[in-house]
Amino acid sequence: MDFNPLSPEVTANPYPYYTELRNKAPVIWLEPFQCWALSRYADVDFALRNPQIFSSSVFTAEALGDLNPVSEVPWILDMNPPDHTRLRKLANKGFAPRLIRTLEPRVQAIIQELIEPIRGQSESDLVSMFSGPLPTIVIAEMLGVEIERRGAFKVWSDDIVRATSRPTDEAERIEIRESLAGLRAYFEQMIEHRRTSPGDDVISALVQAEEERDMLSATEILALAVLILVAGNETTTNLIGNAVLTLLNHPDELAKVRADPALLPALVEEVLRYDSPVQVIFRRTAQDVELEGGKIPAGQNVFLLLGSANRDERQFPEPDRFDVARNPQDHVAFGYGIHYCLGAPLARLEGRNALEALLFDCPPFSCATERVAPIASLIVRGPQTLPLRFDTAGA
Ligand code: HEM
Repeated sequence: MDFNPLSPEVTANPYPYYTELRNKAPVIWLEPFQCWALSRYADVDFALRNPQIFSSSVFTAEALGDLNPVSEVPWILDMNPPDHTRLRKLANKGFAPRLIRTLEPRVQAIIQELIEPIRGQSESDLVSMFSGPLPTIVIAEMLGVEIERRGAFKVWSDDIVRATSRPTDEAERIEIRESLAGLRAYFEQMIEHRRTSPGDDVISALVQAEEERDMLSATEILALAVLILVAGNETTTNLIGNAVLTLLNHPDELAKVRADPALLPALVEEVLRYDSPVQVIFRRTAQDVELEGGKIPAGQNVFLLLGSANRDERQFPEPDRFDVARNPQDHVAFGYGIHYCLGAPLARLEGRNALEALLFDCPPFSCATERVAPIASLIVRGPQTLPLRFDTAGA
């Protein structure tokens, strides 16, 4: 069978295609991508648990190409043990759950600021007004970006995401390169400043992170700060967008959450499973490997289809049923193992609070369009725009 994850039919709704893959070709060679794809939970899980067989490679560096603003060190996502182990131990200190928990009141305040103009209007685009700006503002806050630099930070943040989409227009490339040089200069200055006057932000925590007398270099901190922009923005935007869209398509489940706010954390987990914001991650085989679904030789690129693993009937009963009370603990939406998402506690916190505000502080809403277009991407999944109509009269 043929499978093109970039075809419009697949990006519109990849799930029937994944079901067919899992049943008919669980380990498949994709000629146009020169790459294998794993669709079953057991095989994806095996790959995640065995990084010595399924190693990470230069995928992030390749995605950024010559627009990479920090090319002298590898991205944490692309690293393997023991280098990854060292960097990750230090990076964890910047993302300690204790540190993330202290952000909650600020996250809630940012959510209220963003929601205020929306709830007064009868129609609003969730993505441009709310789920898009939210993670950028939260990350700026978390990194300790000064209020007056927030505007520039938003532009840098958008430009780094633009860089990963491999623009071909030369004028656009020059613009992005110049913008990212500004981003780099800003972070370099900030890191230097935090060495002498630390605050309670993540950059300060990274500057001070120490493990067996080992510390992060300024360039390593710079690379981590930039990667957070790549990894933490669009993903969180899509978690919120996918959650709202899925709830609107499942009114009975929406009613259950409205009746019981204690379901919010389970709702976030079920959305992560049911419509994963990151559909694909990449690996390279370091040796020949035999999986449940087939064999792959050494030295091959492999797509791990997280979105398919999370719908595998061998792992999740009735996987295509969206059930806000399911609370799946074994989904792989944040990956698993050594590269497990560094920002998962933050993404969960943002998702839970954002959905709480939308469902409980806003008038009831419906979708204001017949057709919601998905982002055309191999990696991320979410609505490009999501116009909502608020029932302001009934509020
Ligand atoms: C719903 C939102 C998010 C999803 C679905 C998500 C998903 C993922 C996945 C699947 C991985 C593993 C990649 C791999 O194994 O190759 C990952 C890694 C990572 N994520 Fe997230 N992410 C989200 C939000 C965030 C946020 C908010 C941040 C930071 C503020 C972040 C930072 C990172 C970093 C730094 C890594 C690399 C960890 C490593 O290589 O050791 N992510 N994420």
